[in-house]
Amino acid sequence: MPVLSNEEINNIRKSVNIVDIIGNYINLEKKGKNYFGICPFHDDHTPSMSVSEEKQIYTCFVCGASGNVFTFIRDYENVSFIEAVNKIASISGITLSQNINYQKKYDKEYKIYDLAVKYYKNNLKSKLGINAKKYLNERFLNDEIIDEFDIGVSFNDNNLSKLLKSKNYDEDMLINIGLVNKNTDIYDIFRNRIMFPIHNSNGDAVGFSARIFENVSDSKYINTKETYIFKKGEILFNYHRAQLNAKKEKTLILCEGQMDAIRIYSSGIKNVCATMGTALTNYHINLIKKLKCKVILNMDSDSAGIKAALQNGELLNKNGIEVNILKLSNAKDPDEYIIKYGVDSYKDSLNHAISLFDFKLNYLKSNKNLNNADELSEYINQVINELNKSNDEILKNITINKLSEQYNIDKNILLNKLIKTENKEIISIKKVRKKINQNIKAVEEILYYMMNNVKYAKIFSKKLNYIPDKTYFDIEKDIQAYIILNNTINLADFISYINDIEKEKILKEIISNHNDSIEMTESEFISYIDIINKWINDKKINELKIELKNETDINKKKEITDLIAKIKRGSEL
Ligand code: CTP
Ligand code: MN
Repeated sequence: MPVLSNEEINNIRKSVNIVDIIGNYINLEKKGKNYFGICPFHDDHTPSMSVSEEKQIYTCFVCGASGNVFTFIRDYENVSFIEAVNKIASISGITLSQNINYQKKYDKEYKIYDLAVKYYKNNLKSKLGINAKKYLNERFLNDEIIDEFDIGVSFNDNNLSKLLKSKNYDEDMLINIGLVNKNTDIYDIFRNRIMFPIHNSNGDAVGFSARIFENVSDSKYINTKETYIFKKGEILFNYHRAQLNAKKEKTLILCEGQMDAIRIYSSGIKNVCATMGTALTNYHINLIKKLKCKVILNMDSDSAGIKAALQNGELLNKNGIEVNILKLSNAKDPDEYIIKYGVDSYKDSLNHAISLFDFKLNYLKSNKNLNNADELSEYINQVINELNKSNDEILKNITINKLSEQYNIDKNILLNKLIKTENKEIISIKKVRKKINQNIKAVEEILYYMMNNVKYAKIFSKKLNYIPDKTYFDIEKDIQAYIILNNTINLADFISYINDIEKEKILKEIISNHNDSIEMTESEFISYIDIINKWINDKKINELKIELKNETDINKKKEITDLIAKIKRGSEL
């Protein structure tokens, strides 16, 4: 397969500013020289990821995720490196010199899922599928909707397994992606269920949610197990169809069930996704942030749904996403509501969705008798408590005025309970640094400077040209090779050149451990070389000592002892 030259990859990298690209995924705030945001690669709560415009790299001080614009896209979107390069090229309108027919990282898995989707869909059209079809039609899902959402049905047989087997797919892979299980032979997992395909954000089917429709004693839904391509906590049902519409409408409707999302979407409201009954995670938040829109949370109407609305609402708000909440009356979920009252009534409800704060107040009120002094006092305290979580001075003012008027309470008493909002420091970077030993620290500093400056690479090859650790030494050799190829070097480009997991791990470590505020001088660089030199000598001495122990010949013993002394005096490498 033809590969792109370093030069071409570097030019594509230089065609964008990493701050703009990462800024499309997470909110970045400028602080000093760098930009900071919530790191999408670990469960982050304070902005720990810094993005350097000058160096065109990012690094997280907590989890150590680091790299250039390509590795960010690669790891965020879970695609291959070359796919990431391709994405950036198309953003910049650059045509690649070669038509790279790259494989998607999980191309095979996606193809298999595609086949399974078609298989289940076909079942539904067959004679045996008639009951399933009847069930769907009774739920007001017509052929058009069934087709658009690729809904199918599984039968109580092993025909999918047979089909996949006939294609010679690797059995372990089929098991690992959750389509089949194995006794002596592979067999189908999903039986007698309506099959709803679930897609990742690129629109590849990666799992199923499977609903009973006949045997009501079984559990209502079973889903594909968690696999390397299907993680419920990272996927929103219908996201791939909804994303453009949500951007356009500047609103995303978020409901619980896929039936809700299907109903809302097929009623013509196309900016809707479903959480599939799980609590929102930081991954979901990142998906939503990309849309740069507000969210209308439309959870189920039961008490679990209200809790979910409160919890999800808090998380969205905390991440700077505006939230409105819609609680439907006289229907358990949006699907039922639209069937009962029609889409126009639903649209009207959407327009009357309330703020998270008002929703909280309603919730706090809902189970209290406010004519009772104790309960009223509890309510007021809870409201103040909520206000103290907010930075919105206007909201505080309005609410205090309302409370004071409505319940005839002295305003000053209420105001005294408010905690003044200080200008909270947004960025509190906890530099969680592993203690690394002196030798490794010296090597890492040396490599960091070599990756940024040909001069240091030259000094190193002249003075030492060896590192007594294989992976570090391999990286050193890569740096030298890169310089020979390109006559120049910088960190952001060198990252593209490394395509080995072990080396990349170390590269991340080097970047995140490097203290940005210190600019090294040449003499400091040489003092680090001296540390490595000593490390090499210590290693050599240890080896000789072992040799000495095992040696029986008196003359040879003396030779070794002399050599050790000589090395200790530093007269020999
Ligand atoms: N869910 C699940 N496993 C279950 C129950 C629910 O994975 N045992 C998920 C499904 O994705 C479901 C969502 O949680 O869509 C919401 O559950 P629920 O409200 O019970 O289902 P509905 O969406 O209302 O489905 P239906 O209308 O078909 O009953
Ligand atoms: Mn429902």
